[in-house]
Amino acid sequence: MTVEARPEALALGGVPLDTVLERLRRLEPAARACYVYDLDQLEQRARRFTDAFAPLGPLVAFALKANALPALLASLARVGLAADAASLGELTLAAAAGFDEKRRVFNGNGKTPEELEWVARHGVHSVNADSVEELDALERVSVARGARIRVALRVNPGIDAAGHRYVATGIAEAKFGVSPADALAAWEARARWPHLDLDGIHVHVGSQLLDSAPLEEAVGVALALRDEAAHRGAPLRLVNLGGGFGVDYAGQGTDFPIEDYAARVSRRCAPLGLDWVLEPGRWLVAPAGVLVSEVLWIKPRDGRRFVVLAAGMNDLIRPALYGARHRIEAVRPRPGPELPATVVGPLCESADTFADGIVLPPLKPGDLVAIRDVGAYGASMASNYNGRGRLAELTVAGGRLTRARAGETAEALSRAAADPID
Ligand code: LLP
Repeated sequence: MTVEARPEALALGGVPLDTVLERLRRLEPAARACYVYDLDQLEQRARRFTDAFAPLGPLVAFALKANALPALLASLARVGLAADAASLGELTLAAAAGFDEKRRVFNGNGKTPEELEWVARHGVHSVNADSVEELDALERVSVARGARIRVALRVNPGIDAAGHRYVATGIAEAKFGVSPADALAAWEARARWPHLDLDGIHVHVGSQLLDSAPLEEAVGVALALRDEAAHRGAPLRLVNLGGGFGVDYAGQGTDFPIEDYAARVSRRCAPLGLDWVLEPGRWLVAPAGVLVSEVLWIKPRDGRRFVVLAAGMNDLIRPALYGARHRIEAVRPRPGPELPATVVGPLCESADTFADGIVLPPLKPGDLVAIRDVGAYGASMASNYNGRGRLAELTVAGGRLTRARAGETAEALSRAAADPID
């Protein structure tokens, strides 16, 4: 459970959430919302994850796309995790946070020449290649830089995991990966790329999975392809099982059963004695984050109570983009009956709605609410839409509150460039 309910006010990692905005306002007088992450809880979850998979001894590469706040990356690096980067920016962030060459995995279906160059120069544990053509580019850059690059080929296993279409990646319509037949042909012909160690397979079927069945099916596909590759004289030694482990947004005890899944996968896979990689993002960090926002307005209309927050869809786009529902709670509940509420942001779009048809205690302008489980794909997907600066990000560790990233000011957004190009 992320947020500890206290009789007086919600708290995170021992810090009462009704104090964080007023404390932040000493540094940012205009702040009316902010992200807060509990780094102790994050480290606990990271340990729980690595302990669960201990029999397999995998490289646990945190997917930076979920949240690449440097302070959070430093915590994960400290507890021994690796990093899964998907852009030049994320490679740079990973290196800066202390993930060394053996603890960096590089992903992506549209890698640029600069990214390949970075990989060859600075080194990674492995690259997940998204096409056979990409192998040629990796070979060229390895030759040019005198590097050897270990490569797993991403296979699209044709597994339809439940969940939102936007995060289903293992189906035929999805842009990711190569077909099993093309992967087998490439492994068989791996002498064509003599500067690559093309001995791996990567599968990642989707995100926010609460049922382990599709993930176990993907393990089965990976192992069957490995058998077939070995049969064709190209044994694989690296299996990257991706991420996708879901969290309990509804608060109904439906967290992905990480220990059960890990035990089953370990029983099946550990005896094979291979190198394993996992790429969890959301599961590690979502529950450790909360978005605290001031209530700006209460607008009753046609029997509805619109609760207008300072935070909006530019700060947290998951509800607008995927119809995701995050629990919303009053930080310091006022006495009185819980009543229906439609919780919205201040942007000029009807999609700027966090929740409809929930119940909340009485609220007044100036009260605070907490939007829960936003540690993953919250701040990392924020934008400046509607001329809004991105929010400050705070961390709590050992009961101490720190501003780990400043909020963007309107002045910062007003700074234009006028740099002559020619
Ligand atoms: N590995 C690969 C290759 C991925 O594409 C992803 C996520 C992960 C690992 C981490 O997946 P996770 O363990 O976090 O499920 N913005 C969406 C989620 C997009 C996930 C994209 N890929 C959301 O807010 O739900």
